[in-house]
Amino acid sequence: MFRLAHFSDIHLGPLPRISYRQLISKRITGYINWHRRRRIKLDNGIIDRLTDDMVAAAPDHIALTGDLVNLALDSEIEMARLWLEGLGEPDRISVVPGNHDAYVPGALDKACRAWGPWMRGDGHNGPIDRHSFPYMRVRGPVALIGISSARATAPFLASGYFQEEQAERTAAFLKEAGERSLFRVIMIHHPPIRGATSPHKRLLGISRFKKMLKAYGAELVLHGHTHLATVHWLDGLEGSVPVVGVAAAGQSHGSRKPAGHYNLFEIVGAPGAWQVRLTRRGSNGKSPEICELSSQLLVSGDRIPA
Ligand SMILES: [Fe+2]
Ligand SMILES: [Fe+2]
Repeated sequence: MFRLAHFSDIHLGPLPRISYRQLISKRITGYINWHRRRRIKLDNGIIDRLTDDMVAAAPDHIALTGDLVNLALDSEIEMARLWLEGLGEPDRISVVPGNHDAYVPGALDKACRAWGPWMRGDGHNGPIDRHSFPYMRVRGPVALIGISSARATAPFLASGYFQEEQAERTAAFLKEAGERSLFRVIMIHHPPIRGATSPHKRLLGISRFKKMLKAYGAELVLHGHTHLATVHWLDGLEGSVPVVGVAAAGQSHGSRKPAGHYNLFEIVGAPGAWQVRLTRRGSNGKSPEICELSSQLLVSGDRIPA
C-alpha cells in the first residue's frame, strides 16, 4: 500500500511588516483583503496540529498544492522555505505553486528558487523557476506530476493558466508513467473543473486539460484554490478520474468555508484495478484534536464509478 497525504492553501501568516513601497502594486488589494478577512479566519495553530497529525500518520509522500503564502513578499517566501524544511525531506514532499505564490510579477521565480528542492523533478539538477513545470517524480508505484497554474494577474483576479507547452509536456509524462504501469497523480493548484470557482478565479485551459486527460489518462488529480472539500470526476483514457479538492489547511472553524483538514489516500492494486481510499482528517469543531472526518472508497479496485 502507498499512502499519499494531500493538503493545500496554508497561506502562512501572520503577514510580516510591509513597507508602503511594497504596497504600490496589486499587493494593496491583497493586504486590505488579508486584514479584513484572512487574519481573523486563518489559524496557524490548526496548521501545526494538522501537520503534526500528518507526519505522525507516516505517509509515503506528501503533496502540497499551492498558496503557501499571501502576498509573496520576499520575507514570506523565506518563511515558507523554513517551514517546508521543518515539515520534512524535500524528496518526500512535492509542492506546486498557487496564485498567491505568484502574487506580483517576479514573485513566482523567487518562490520557485526558494522552494526548488520540493519542486524538483527526478533527474533535474539545475535551478528551478516558473519554466520547470510540469515535473515528474516517481516514488514506489506512484508518479507525481506537478503542474504550475500560477501566474501574476491583475488586481481582483486570481485566474490560473494551463497552456499548450505544459499540456504537451504533461501528456508526455502521463504516457511514460502509464507505460511504466504507475499510479499517476496530477497536482495543480486551480481546479480543472468548470464552475468550481467564480469566473475571476477560474483556470484558463480547462478544455485543454480535459482533452489531455481523456487522451492519456491519469489515476488521480489533486487541487487546492477553492478551499473546499470536493470530489469531481473527469473522463480519462479508460474510465473516470477522481479530481479531489481540500479545505485550506489554516482555515478555522466558524467561517463560510470548511475548517482546515488534510486528505490521506491509501492506494493499492495495479493498472486497471487500482483501489483508492480517501480519508479526510481535521478538527471536528468540538475539540481542537485532529480526528477522522470521513472515509470513503474513492475507486474500488475493479470498478471505477461513472
Ligand atoms: Fe488559497
Ligand atoms: Fe489560490
